[in-house]
Amino acid sequence: MGWLTCYGAGEPPEVGAGQPDLTIEVAEQLAEDDPDRQPVLAVEDLHAYFATDEGVLRAVDGVSFALYSGETLGIVGESGSGKSVTCRAVIRLLPRTAHSSGSIEYGGRNLLRLPSSEIQSVRGDHIAMIFQDPMSSLNPVMRVGDQIAEALSAHRRLSAGERKMQTLELMRLVGIPAPKQRFRDYPHQFSGGMRQRVLIAIALACRPRILLADEPTTALDVTIQDQILTLLLKLREELGMSMILVSHDLAVIAETCDRVAVMYAGQIVESAPTARLLARPRHPYTVGLLRSLPRLDSGDRYLTPIAGAPPSLVDPPTGCRFYDRCPLREDACRVWKTQLLEVEEGHTTRCRRHAQVELTDA
Ligand SMILES: Nc1ncnc2c1ncn2[C@@H]1O[C@H](COP(=O)(O)OP(=O)(O)OP(=O)(O)O)[C@@H](O)[C@H]1O
Ligand code: SF4
Ligand SMILES: [Mg+2]
Repeated sequence: MGWLTCYGAGEPPEVGAGQPDLTIEVAEQLAEDDPDRQPVLAVEDLHAYFATDEGVLRAVDGVSFALYSGETLGIVGESGSGKSVTCRAVIRLLPRTAHSSGSIEYGGRNLLRLPSSEIQSVRGDHIAMIFQDPMSSLNPVMRVGDQIAEALSAHRRLSAGERKMQTLELMRLVGIPAPKQRFRDYPHQFSGGMRQRVLIAIALACRPRILLADEPTTALDVTIQDQILTLLLKLREELGMSMILVSHDLAVIAETCDRVAVMYAGQIVESAPTARLLARPRHPYTVGLLRSLPRLDSGDRYLTPIAGAPPSLVDPPTGCRFYDRCPLREDACRVWKTQLLEVEEGHTTRCRRHAQVELTDA
């Protein structure tokens, strides 16, 4: 096992300690195929559109994926590609201006069809989410301990004593030192990393089966990022959860996830087991993400950002959405009705020229 699984919540890794070469370490982590594993969540042809002044914005446009028991699925893509809207759609937390369609199968039911009263009990009890912005997710004028206690008692009846005891237990579980003293602190008295631990405690309060972690480390410095990722993976394993980890940073996803879905302009453009995706990407956008990663072992060879910008989601191209930025494009791509093609078992791409894609493209 790599650096990710080795540390307790109170024993963060040293800065840079044991951080391996990305591809070698991830190859070692390749999840063994287990034919008995069942999806705990199956998202099929999910659409989430927003009514805006400019027109209908197709934030999520035909996304399908499955999350298997005990695995961590990474969703990666540039800003605005639809990662957060996908997660919010899963737990039906989109604003009124949004319209969602498709199917989200959980426990034999389509969450999109559940009445609001029932979706409340799915949220938290079954599927919990850590939101992208820790500060705005916490109430600044409520004590940290009370916020965790509130999450605990949202779905079950507890006496005051039990609530306090379980709150302290959760604080310990997520590695908040001296929980008895910190219980009465306010969020501003916590560091960024500790605030993120509070959010994790709140998300875990009802012991969910699925955790959606939306950019849980983006606002944190590198050392704290490592600690939080380590903690999330450890908790996932200990509590037997499945996890969706969202990041714009492929390096984070590569170090933590069993499988990856790459999003571009509201769609999944490539999906594969992590090691396979890194070793043999089959979409030029994925290659672009890989080439923009800093690589300590090869000078600045991989520090090339992807040129250009994503297309409008109000009026997206009818053919391949990556066309304008793609070094492999040809006229036929402009009119190609994009679809996910299976290039090998468990590895799909939306690129019609996938056989020509090399790591040097993009
Ligand atoms: N409430 C909303 N109303 C209108 N458009 C929205 C709304 N929320 C998100 N969008 C748009 O939906 C698209 C996808 O947004 P989303 O937040 O999912 O992106 P993201 O991939 O999570 O990006 P980031 O990495 O910046 O968090 C963007 O174009 C965004 O502007
Ligand atoms: S379909 Fe064509 S334009 Fe789109 S990613 Fe593939 S080569 Fe590039
Ligand atoms: Mg987001």
